[in-house]
Amino acid sequence: MLAGKRVLLIVSGGIAAYKALELIRLLRRAECGVRCVLTDGGAQFVTALSLQALTEERVHTTLWSLTDESEMGHIELSRSADLVVVAPASADILAKMAAGIADDLASTLLLATDKRVLAAPAMNVRMWLHPATQANMAVLRRRGVAIVGPDEGAMACNEYGPGRLAEPPDIVAAIADLLAPATPLAGRHALVTSGPTHEPIDPVRYLANRSSGRQGHSIAAALAALGAQVTLVSGPVGIADPPGVAVRHVETAEQMLSACQEALPADIAVCAAAVADWRVAEAATGKLKKVPGAAPPGLALVPNPDILATLSRPGPSRPRLVVGFAAETDELRRHAEEKRVRKGCDWIVANDVSPATGIMGGEENAIHLITAEGVEDWPRLPKPEVARRLAERIAAALEE
Ligand code: C5P
Repeated sequence: MLAGKRVLLIVSGGIAAYKALELIRLLRRAECGVRCVLTDGGAQFVTALSLQALTEERVHTTLWSLTDESEMGHIELSRSADLVVVAPASADILAKMAAGIADDLASTLLLATDKRVLAAPAMNVRMWLHPATQANMAVLRRRGVAIVGPDEGAMACNEYGPGRLAEPPDIVAAIADLLAPATPLAGRHALVTSGPTHEPIDPVRYLANRSSGRQGHSIAAALAALGAQVTLVSGPVGIADPPGVAVRHVETAEQMLSACQEALPADIAVCAAAVADWRVAEAATGKLKKVPGAAPPGLALVPNPDILATLSRPGPSRPRLVVGFAAETDELRRHAEEKRVRKGCDWIVANDVSPATGIMGGEENAIHLITAEGVEDWPRLPKPEVARRLAERIAAALEE
C-alpha cells in the first residue's frame, strides 16, 4: 500500500519529536520514501543527523540557502511528495498554518503545497484545549487538512489529558488511508469504445477518419483508475493499450458493435469511437485494379449500425449510464442536445472539431457536457485530464 509512495515529513518542536524517528522507521519498513523538513523548534529535540540516518535523505532546514546547490526549494520539496505530514505538529505550526504565515521553510512549504496535508498535533493539554488552538484546528479541518490524534494520557509535562502525539502506527495507518487510491467504481463494469473504424473498400484500401483514440483510451484508463473493470473496444489506433484494461481490437463498425454486445452487461458505456457512418456495400474480394483510361470505380455506401443508439435502447441490458460524444463543427450545443435525445443516451460530451481547434487527433480537448439537467462548459484541458474529470463525474452519478 505504501510501497513506492513518498512522504514529506515536517518535524516541528516538542518533546514528541523523538517519536518522529519511530514513524520514519515504520514508513521505511513499508518501503515508503521519507524526506524530512526539520524546524528550528524540532531541531531542539532531534538532530538532523538522526533523521538523515533513518531516511537516507538529506534533511532540509532552511528557506534561505537556495544558493547551496544541494538545497531544494520549497516548491520542489512539495512537488516530490505524495503527501505532506506534520508530526509532531506544535501549537505554533498549527497556528501558522491556520493564519497563512510563511516565515520559515516548513510554514512556507505548507502555504505553497498543493498536496494533501496530515497533521498530528502534540502539545501540552492546556495549549491543546485553548480556544485559540481549537479555533485554528476548526479552520484547518474546514480547509481539508487531515488530523490524526492527539491521544489522551499522561504527558511529559506531568499532566494528564489530550495532547499526546498519536502513536506512530496510528499515524502510519492515517497516511495509508490518505494515500489509498479512491475506488468509487469498484465492482462496476465499464464499456468504452475508442478510435476510428476502418471500412474496407478492397483488401488493401479502406474508409477511415482522423480519430487518434487518445480521448477514448484515456477515459478507459481513468475509469480503471477509479476501480472499474473496463472493456475497451478499440478501432485501429497507433497508441498503446492502456494498462489494467481488457482491450478488444476491431476494425469495422460491425465488429465494434458485436464486441460491445459481447461485453455486456455493463454499468457504464462511453462511446468515444469515431465510428464510420457508412461502409462500402460490398467490399471487393480482390484489389481493385486501376485500368488506364477507365473511369474510377464508384463506391456504393450503406449506413453502419449506430452503436451508441443500440446500447442506449431501453431494456434489461442497457447500461445504467450511457455517454456519447458529439464531434461538431457548427451549432455545437444545439446539435449535441438533439443527438442526446435522438440516440437515447444520458450524456453527450460535445466538442468542436473544426480544424482550427486542433482537437481531432490532438492532445487537448475543450468539451461541453450535456446532460438532462443542462450544459456545462469545461475549460480546454489535456485529454487525460478531461478523462479524469469525466470518470469522476461518472462515479458521482452512479452514487446518486
Ligand atoms: O451521429 P454521430 O456520429 O455524430 O454520433 C457520435 C456519437 O455516436 C459518438 O458517441 C459515437 O461513438 C457514436 N456512434 C456510434 N455508432 C455509429 C456512429 C456514431 O456509436 N455508427
